[in-house]
Amino acid sequence: MLMDYQKILDEIYDEIQPELMRGKVADYIPALAEVPKGQFAMTVTLEDGRSYSVGESQKRFSIQSISKVFTFTQALHLYSKSLYSRVGVEPSGNPFNSLVQLEYENGIPRNPFINAGALVITDALISHYGDEYKTLETILNFVRSISDNTEITFDPVVAKSEMEHGDRNIALAHLMKSFGNFENDVHSTVMTYFKHCAITMSTEELSRAMLFLAFGGKDPLTGKLFATPSQAKRINAVMLTCGHYDASGEFAYHVGLPAKSGVGGGIVATVPGKMSIAVWSPALNKYGNSHAGTLALERFTTKTGLSIF
Ligand code: DON
Repeated sequence: MLMDYQKILDEIYDEIQPELMRGKVADYIPALAEVPKGQFAMTVTLEDGRSYSVGESQKRFSIQSISKVFTFTQALHLYSKSLYSRVGVEPSGNPFNSLVQLEYENGIPRNPFINAGALVITDALISHYGDEYKTLETILNFVRSISDNTEITFDPVVAKSEMEHGDRNIALAHLMKSFGNFENDVHSTVMTYFKHCAITMSTEELSRAMLFLAFGGKDPLTGKLFATPSQAKRINAVMLTCGHYDASGEFAYHVGLPAKSGVGGGIVATVPGKMSIAVWSPALNKYGNSHAGTLALERFTTKTGLSIF
């Protein structure tokens, strides 16, 4: 029996209202500090393309670390297993921008979703494509094709704003370079990373974009193959174990889905074989993940029983 997803989302929308002003918007990126709290959107997309939404589901926001799912997918396709000599797949148990572990572990980031890991992935893409402009264009084109939407782009104001306060990411890149795990110019690689983090998408667009990862790497609507089934399995596994940084265990415990958050307040999740989900609410919890977004996903899996466990 098909569940009434619209009714479930409407209920979540009502129940989540008291939570929307709790938490803090990301203020270490000045352009994101201006985004008003109190906003919320959620979209579910099914295999046949039907989608259900509540809230401001067409409003674009900064996807930030959600973009790391897309760059990881591209790098895995290009480098296959050899990628793992440069970046691991273990949860870090540390904040997303931590420097400490990287020093102990000889410049090899724990996973592709912490900042250091995503910087290595961007570096690997630049090495493959030859320069940062071609790389950014390829990343944007990849996101456009998984979204089936040619209009997706990034916000240069957000990218510039992050660069102006980018000392920590620049430090991570230099530290990795000192260990021989960074191949390209630090400044331009970090800038390319900031640009892909500054891609703006709505929950409707993000939920659509994640469909291929819910269906074994193949977009069920266009039939296009964006990852092999084995790669899709691995990407989902890393989302489950590392997608929420030092709150990944807690997120798996409460929500029970592979998912990835961003400091813009977005979270994407997959219910493998069934659907993809995107939620947005800009105020963050202390781990840098959307406060209301996390609670909304917890309610969704509780109400529908659709967790992977
Ligand atoms: O590098 C940064 O800090 C941001 N561009 C991305 C961090 C992020 O989204 C962490 N997510 N919760």
